[in-house]
Amino acid sequence: MITATRTRCDRTAAWGHLQAHYEAAGRSFDLRQAFAADPRRFEVFSQPAPHLFADLSKNLVDAKTEELLLALAREAGLEAHRDAMFAGEHINATENRAVLHTLLRAPAGTAVPSSLADAHAEVQATLDAMLAFAERVRADHTITDVVNIGIGGSDLGPQMVVRALDAQVARGKRFHFVSNVDGHELAAVLRGLAPEHTLFLVASKTFTTAETMANAQSAKRWFEQSGNVDIAHHFAALTTNVEAARTFGIETTFGFWDWVGGRYSLWSSIGLPIALAIGAEGFRRLLAGAHAMDEHFRSAPLERNLPVRLGLLDVWYRNFHRFASRSIAPYHSALQRLPAYLQQLEMESNGKQVDAEGAALPLGTSPVLWGEPGTNGQHAYFQMLHQGTDVIPLEFIAVRDPAHDLEGHHPKLLANALAQAQALMVGKEDAGGHRNFPGNRPSSFFVFERLDAETLGAFLAMYEHRVFTSGALWGINSFDQWGVELGKVLAKDIEPRLASGNTAGLDASTAGLLARLR
Ligand code: F6P
Repeated sequence: MITATRTRCDRTAAWGHLQAHYEAAGRSFDLRQAFAADPRRFEVFSQPAPHLFADLSKNLVDAKTEELLLALAREAGLEAHRDAMFAGEHINATENRAVLHTLLRAPAGTAVPSSLADAHAEVQATLDAMLAFAERVRADHTITDVVNIGIGGSDLGPQMVVRALDAQVARGKRFHFVSNVDGHELAAVLRGLAPEHTLFLVASKTFTTAETMANAQSAKRWFEQSGNVDIAHHFAALTTNVEAARTFGIETTFGFWDWVGGRYSLWSSIGLPIALAIGAEGFRRLLAGAHAMDEHFRSAPLERNLPVRLGLLDVWYRNFHRFASRSIAPYHSALQRLPAYLQQLEMESNGKQVDAEGAALPLGTSPVLWGEPGTNGQHAYFQMLHQGTDVIPLEFIAVRDPAHDLEGHHPKLLANALAQAQALMVGKEDAGGHRNFPGNRPSSFFVFERLDAETLGAFLAMYEHRVFTSGALWGINSFDQWGVELGKVLAKDIEPRLASGNTAGLDASTAGLLARLR
């Protein structure tokens, strides 16, 4: 039951005030003038939050913009909607489900609403069992390779975190992630494996996803064809559908619950590869970092609440400036998979065209998210960010302490991050045209002291809540994903046609392509 009601942002009085403010001052806002006029701009628009620091001062906002955006959030009912999520109300209405990934990171002993006490106890029991298993496997030196088979939320999160925390990963085990139904991927991984030294994790919330089932079947066949029979020792399943995993032949299963969305599931048993990589203590630190951010989101006043300020900025950019894209530039090569992870988080959550009541939205929702680690991106698409015709807000992430001791590299890396953000803002005048940099291009800048489990946990939770904030204002259900269904259904229809050649009822393009691909 949903007790909290939201008012869609475009139906509030604040919306009209923002429109007027955008016309009067927002459209022509100039960052260079704003810094010149306000010596405290950095302090006012930067925001410390648990485990990280965010400088938002190079964004196209002034105090008035923020004040109006905060009024918008209040009028839209953001706080009530947030509280409804934490309370376990069924805010995912199209699937009639609660949204409780935050419960996964609430440590034992945390006060939770009495209606969630049983669920919280189950979370703790499953976590303890999963972490005990992880420690046993970590100590088992016969297992040298772990293969996670899963896709979407059952792949992107664990893969991104294992890569990001590579410096803390115990040596002696290699981690592989197989997601694509394209057999090239699994075949390449299997080539380097010995069955008796391999642990396969079949990760699927539903245990029905076509890609994952195909890969899991092939992995099992490969394992059995090698003469091995000890499936119990070499396969484990991470799923809400324990029965299907058992039918598949996997005895070792770690469950989770329908109130954990796939893209919010790395905190559940889907995180087992992370626990195998960084250990039980490391995994608990990841959860603790996220929990600290949950508490910040839940209790900090909106004007000093980092996910809220970012979510409001996202609405300002998308609906007033009409920026359709945002780029992520992690200046840390271990964060290579972060943009892909954030793509699913934001675009699958907020890529919606109707509000929670099913009414067509008259405004833009999720921007396109994309990016590459710096400095690589600088030598590819930064040209367009500096001189292209579209303004694309950029998000920098820089880490103060490196996890290597190669001399001279880190200052060069950090200098580049700072210089790019500076260049985007200040620009450079050149009458000749080709060397002219318009400047006034917005960016946010996140500073981590270290890339460790707590910091990463906090950053990811911050992003989840930021996506929640913009989704709440747009009045959409950020927790379903009906848009992925149609393609799945059509693929089922097309697959047998590739064998039979039957093109009856297909459009001419699909039929022509199918004939070429046979
Ligand atoms: O692509 C749609 C989707 O349902 C994602 O939301 C999800 O993360 C992914 O597929 C994988 O689903 P499952 O974990 O059930 O295999």
